[in-house]
Formats: sequence, C-alpha cells, structure tokens
Amino acid sequence: LNYLTAVDRQSIADILTNGLKRLEYRGYDSAGLAIDGDNENDVLIYKEVGKVAALQKLIQEQNTIDWQKTFTSHCGMAHTRWATHGQPSPINSHPHRSDPKNEFTVVHNGIITNYRELKLVLEKKGYTFESETDTEAIAKLAKYIWDSQKGNKQLTFTDLVKGVVKELEGAFAMIFKSVHFPNEIVATRRGSPLLIGVKTPKKLKVDFVDVEFGGIAEEIPAEVEGAPAALSALEEIYEQPESVVNTMRGRVNFDTHKVTLGGLKTYLPTIRRCRRIVFIACGTSYHSALATRAIFEELTEIPVSTELASDFLDRKTPIFRDDVCVFISQSGETADTILAMRYCIERGALCVGVTNTVGSSISRESHCGVHINAGPEIGVASTKAYTSQYIALVMIAIQLSEDRTSMTARRNEIIDGLHALPAHIKEVLAIDQELQRLARDVLHKEKSLLIMGRGFQNATCLEGALKIKEVSYMHSEGILAGELKHGPLALVDENMPVILIMTRDSLYPKVRSALEQVTARKGQPIIICNKGDDAINAESKTIRVPQTVDCLQGLLTIIPLQLLSYHLACLAGVDVDFPRNLAKSVTVE
Ligand code: G6P
Repeated sequence: LNYLTAVDRQSIADILTNGLKRLEYRGYDSAGLAIDGDNENDVLIYKEVGKVAALQKLIQEQNTIDWQKTFTSHCGMAHTRWATHGQPSPINSHPHRSDPKNEFTVVHNGIITNYRELKLVLEKKGYTFESETDTEAIAKLAKYIWDSQKGNKQLTFTDLVKGVVKELEGAFAMIFKSVHFPNEIVATRRGSPLLIGVKTPKKLKVDFVDVEFGGIAEEIPAEVEGAPAALSALEEIYEQPESVVNTMRGRVNFDTHKVTLGGLKTYLPTIRRCRRIVFIACGTSYHSALATRAIFEELTEIPVSTELASDFLDRKTPIFRDDVCVFISQSGETADTILAMRYCIERGALCVGVTNTVGSSISRESHCGVHINAGPEIGVASTKAYTSQYIALVMIAIQLSEDRTSMTARRNEIIDGLHALPAHIKEVLAIDQELQRLARDVLHKEKSLLIMGRGFQNATCLEGALKIKEVSYMHSEGILAGELKHGPLALVDENMPVILIMTRDSLYPKVRSALEQVTARKGQPIIICNKGDDAINAESKTIRVPQTVDCLQGLLTIIPLQLLSYHLACLAGVDVDFPRNLAKSVTVE
C-alpha cells in the first residue's frame, strides 16, 4: 500500500484482518498475516487456528511491538486457509516462510502436486521444513533461487518469482513478499483465480490479473465490487420469493409466454443441432442439473446426461465437437468444474456456463451462458442458488424448444407455473413453524433419515439429504423410490425415520406403492404432498405444499427440507453458516 499520509501499523493490521473477515463466509479453518517489522529487514508473521477474531486477538496480545509506528509505504499480506495438506494448526497456516528470518513469505491458494519432490531436493540442500504443507516448499524454493543468484544485481523480484513458478506443477494463486525487496509484492497464478483490487480514495476498483493467459487486466462489472453483505443461511431461504423473481427478471414475458436469454442468443442454433447435452457440476449445483434433466429432454428432444465434475474427469469421458456441455456453479470457481470445462473446451465442445458470479472463472472462460442473478449467496449450504439454477435451466430448455410448435402448450403451462412461483414459495415458507415443531418433536434425536421419491422429486431427495447432513450432521440419504426394493428397503422398520415425497404427478401411483412397501414394514413416513390431496391417510404426518406444474414442483418440495435442515442444525447447536469441514467455494481438486 502506498499512502499519501503515513499510516500506523495497527491500521495496516486492521485493513488486512477486516479484509479477511469479509471472506469469512467462504469457509476456512485458520488465518494469518505478514507485515513489516521495525527495520527494513524485518517481517512479522502472526498465525492462528479458528476464526479471524482469534487472529485479531493474537495480534492485540503482542504488546512488545509498537503498533503506532507509521509507514508511508508498506506491503502486507493475509490469508485464510482451508486445510488440504496438513491439519489446521498455526504452523500449517499461511503465510509460509523461507527461513526463521522470514526472508521470503508466501500465501497460496491451490495445490502444488510436485511439492514432495521439491521438498526432497531442498532438504538435501539443507533446508528444514516446519509445516506439513505444500506451500512451504514455495517459500524455500524462492530463497534457494535467491541464494544461488547472490551477487546478481539485475535480478528483480518478478524474475525471481518466475524462476519459482517454472519449477511448480499444479494449481496456484500466490503472493510473495521479501525482505530483499521491501515495498514490493509479486502476485501470480496458474489454474486458480486471482483478483487484484485497487483502492482509490473514493472506491474499490477490482481488476483481473490473468497471468496464465498473458497478463491482461480489465475492469469487471460493478456487481462484484467489494464483498457481499452477510445474510444468514435462514435469511437466504426466506429470500427465495424475491431471488427467483430476480432470476426471471427481463427474461420471461408472462403475457406473450416467451423466454429470452441474451447470453445464449447467437448460440441457440448450434445448441439445437448438437448430438447431446452434458450437464457438469458438483454438490447442490449437480442436483439442479438432475432436477431439470427430464424437462430438458422432453422440451428439446436432445439426450441429456448429468455428470459430477470429479467423476467426469476421472473417467476421461469422451467429448466431441458436436457436444454441448453446460457447467453449473454458484461460485463459478469450483476447481473440479473449471477443470472439466477446460477439458471440454480443448475437445471443441460448446461450453455454456450457468453461474451466480459475474466475472468468475466459469463465466469468463465459457463460450456463452446465463447468470442466475440470485444475489450473493453466503451460506455454505446452498439454498437460493439451487432454486435459481433450477429456474435458469428450465428457462434454457424453454428457449431452446421455442421453434417446436408441438410444445407450445407445455411451454405456456410452465411459464404460468413460473409466474405463480413467488406466491407459492411464500405459502411454503408460511408453514415454517410446523417444520420447526417437526424437527424438535420428531426428528431431532434421530441418528439417520431417509428421504424417498422418484421422477421429478429424485433430485429433491438427494438435495434435501445433502442439506440435512451438511448443516445438522445427521446422517441422511436420498433414495430413488424406484430402487427401494433393490436394497434400501432393508433399512426400513418402525424405528427408521423416513420422509416420502408424494406430489401429484404422473408417477403418483408408483410412489403410492413405495409408501405401501414402507408402511408394510411398520415404517411411518412423513409425507410431503400437495395441499388438498385427500387421498392421503388423515393419520399420516404430512407437509403440504401448493401444487404446481410437475417439472416445477421440486422448487416447492425442496423448501421444507431446507427449513428442516436449518432447524435440525439449530437444535444440534451447529453454526448453520459455518458447518465444520466445509467451504463455500472449493477451489482445490
Ligand atoms: C461446495 C459448497 C456447496 C456447493 C458446491 C458446488 O461444496 O459447499 O454448497 O454446492 O461446492 O459449488 P458451486 O459454487 O460450483 O455451485
């Protein structure tokens, strides 16, 4: 930082830790920072496990340091870590250093796949490692190159970092600081994303520095300036009547029954001609693909397959020039999804991004796409992004099929369903107290929970079970009701809690038979069904949601499960916004 007027050390530490705080929602397990000491050859490093507040406390306790000392120019760095190599501990936290004198300090996001080899070489040369991380090898390597070039007055900090990067395999975004180059910072990346924010007196401007593709820097749209204000997980569930409207705004015309997605326009003919569509995603985003696969196939008559990004890559799945690959990602930064996209780009497929984050890697590197416009999502467990991804995919299917007159009635019916959606979601949110009671009186003490359904509700079962395990740590499994008799039925008895989704669509009779199979084994399922469905036994416990078009029903059945997971988490004493071991944005493979 270059200041016009001097700034004291305390303010510098505050800027860094407050910056980290704004990233807290992404999930992490430790934090650290490096700032200048009293001499030019002095760098101070502080690291702590847990929340940023713990790091701030550690800093406050350093009373031998003059926190009022001022700087007119200063380079500091800070980092939150989500453990991959080595458990969360102060020593494994970043910044990492080259030696006890902190000659080179590094913060890093990503994974260095050849760090073991580098470590072996450096150890042979006399370096001792203090942490179990891959990053430490980077700092040591920097010092090794520096020492081996001693006396080379021409060597710049950038040259030195280039030398380091040449030796690294894997993915990284890194920042280097050095006592040999006071007031300089070098940032570099390969594979992992890196943004540079430039603070002018009035506002924070965020630029891209894309090292991998030749150092371009361009301004990004206002939406991503600064970090989002923190909403809690519950607020995000409750925001859904508005967030779904934002996804459709300016795109769905409810009078003319037309959908227009500007981001796909010129690509529509290519997509319609493709041999197949492949949806690729992770976690909740994958479930939105599952939820909409059937309506996509019905409206477009193009075969659609769904792939978990990691497995797709593991299998080295064949991909061809006439394939269309759709990458769904809330953050647009999930490493597995990005790698799968690059794999498909290399093979010449048309790559479509469906993300919530303008300027993210997926939205920049895909050929075309749709932003879901759900607003920033903070909760580690994705809720409003799921319903918005679902709608975005339905909108894509409708637009792709607009040249098929045989589908007009179906399209109109769905668009009417979308129109009614915000009111329907409000109706579901209104039963929250019932769900809270159900969580408290029936489910809270249970060890396990099965969620069953089929057809359009298969995705709801998987997504509902994911929500429950993510935030309440209760074991929960989504089961395709059609598979019940091929195994899961063995789990069912009078003690096993079951939720069965039985809404009025063409598969209703088949779900009824699953219900009978469960009750025949003395199971007493809680049934998620439609309001006014009198065919369901009055003694059964029910969660009733409004009826809508079959392919949109999953937007309403997921909400009670989101709320249930929230209440189960609260009853279990879990901080719903920060479930253990999970991160909002998984930027490592
Ligand atoms: C993490 C998050 C999940 C999310 C998944 C995919 O695991 O905790 O909530 O569904 O990543 O993230 P993406 O940003 O690609 O949708």
